[in-house]
Amino acid sequence: MTDSLTVRDNRTGQEYDVPITDGTIKAADLGAIKEGDDQPGLAVYDPGFVNTASCRSAVTFIDGEEGILEYRGYPIEQLAEKSNFLEVAYLLIHGSLPTKAEYESWVHEITYHTFVHENVKSFMEGFRYDAHPMGMLMASVGALSTFYPDARHIDDDEIRRLQIVRMIAKMPTLGAWAFRHAQGKPYIYPDNELGYTANFLSMLFKMSEQRFEADERLVRALDVLFILHADHEQNCSTNAVRGVGSSQVDPYSAVAAGVAALYGPLHGGANEAVLRMLRRIETVENVPGFLEGVKNREERLMGFGHRVYKNYDPRARIIEQHMDEVFEATEYNPLVEIARELAKRALDDEYFTSRKLYPNVDYYSGIIYEALQIPTEMFTVIFAIPRTSGWVAQWMELNDDPEQKIARPRQIYTGERDRDFIPIEEREGPEKIVGPPARRPKRQRRGA
Ligand code: ACO
Repeated sequence: MTDSLTVRDNRTGQEYDVPITDGTIKAADLGAIKEGDDQPGLAVYDPGFVNTASCRSAVTFIDGEEGILEYRGYPIEQLAEKSNFLEVAYLLIHGSLPTKAEYESWVHEITYHTFVHENVKSFMEGFRYDAHPMGMLMASVGALSTFYPDARHIDDDEIRRLQIVRMIAKMPTLGAWAFRHAQGKPYIYPDNELGYTANFLSMLFKMSEQRFEADERLVRALDVLFILHADHEQNCSTNAVRGVGSSQVDPYSAVAAGVAALYGPLHGGANEAVLRMLRRIETVENVPGFLEGVKNREERLMGFGHRVYKNYDPRARIIEQHMDEVFEATEYNPLVEIARELAKRALDDEYFTSRKLYPNVDYYSGIIYEALQIPTEMFTVIFAIPRTSGWVAQWMELNDDPEQKIARPRQIYTGERDRDFIPIEEREGPEKIVGPPARRPKRQRRGA
């Protein structure tokens, strides 16, 4: 058996052998297939990259059919149980778990880079009183490039390492300040005596007390959520970081692009929709009726289904295991019972099992954030903070990969050609009415 694909071009009758490597063919090899010597080569049309590998990556492995997620080869279940977020961030970025000395030095470095320049605080204060925290985070992380102009030397290992430490250290500070801003509360400086997650909670919630000490169970639950969200291979925001990073811009600008992508409702917004759905269902008794509506295609069961996972999303299972612990430490939330009853019934129902629809990471995460008193507009910020470690790991991999080029897709041109410019006085046509443009038909879009 030869690892190649034989393609017959029925336009010309010619056959081509295209090598298969790692289960893929090179799109560039298809460029040799031409109708005539002066014609363009064959290209691949793949909006949304649904079946295009854009890179080689050794960071995160997903097997959606089996419900497997691994960071650098370690199963997510083991990392969530035995590790902590900063150790996982080290693993993603360096490729291996740290020794004790490496871990201590990493934690020390991250802890002592949590402060930001006072001018960052001043410009954040300039946002409108009700600015969305994600917009503030996007702008402020991008602005860090102006505070660290050396960051543009992306091939200098030491400079690069320093920016990565800074970025992981400062994201919770920026995220927490964006939250405090919309609440009209003073920004809280980092407390470097606290761990990464506890410090973030302190910057979110501290008022006049000497030290804000969050319940250990809640600190651990948030740390686990940070681990689960740290990376997820080539999703929309990671692709944005890689696409922008391929121009060799500094990492702050590339990560700002990742934050922008995550801001969109198709990427980071499903957990909010789950909470809205559960509130609408109102009681456990209404669950069967709601499910009938889903099966009659009146609406979707939010937090169920995934483009990649056609099995239980392993992250959803881990979050569910932490729910009881969280609710021991917080107020009772009746939404939990509705969510559990809904999941139990859906997982028992042929409609959902035959379509391989299982809970995804967003099914339970919003309920936990709500228990931690984190408002919905902060959900994507809480996603962006840990995902920064994945973004920078992927950004480093991109910069070290000799096969990578500046991202520059092709297009299928559908517009006019060969028109001659007409001076404005000579142009004819119906008199234009000045006003808002006509509404375009809504695009059919699907998330992932
Ligand atoms: N509820 C009910 N039916 C569903 C659901 C759902 N949540 N998801 C998919 N289906 C059905 C579809 O109607 C379709 O049925 P059909 O073949 O009889 O027409 C079948 O399952 C396949 O659905 P697709 O839309 O083709 O699946 P796709 O992979 O494109 O969609 C998606 C994945 C967008 C996540 C979808 O499952 C969904 O909308 N889920 C709810 C929203 C959600 O939870 N999003 C978060 C995803 S996780 C993340 O982004 C971090």
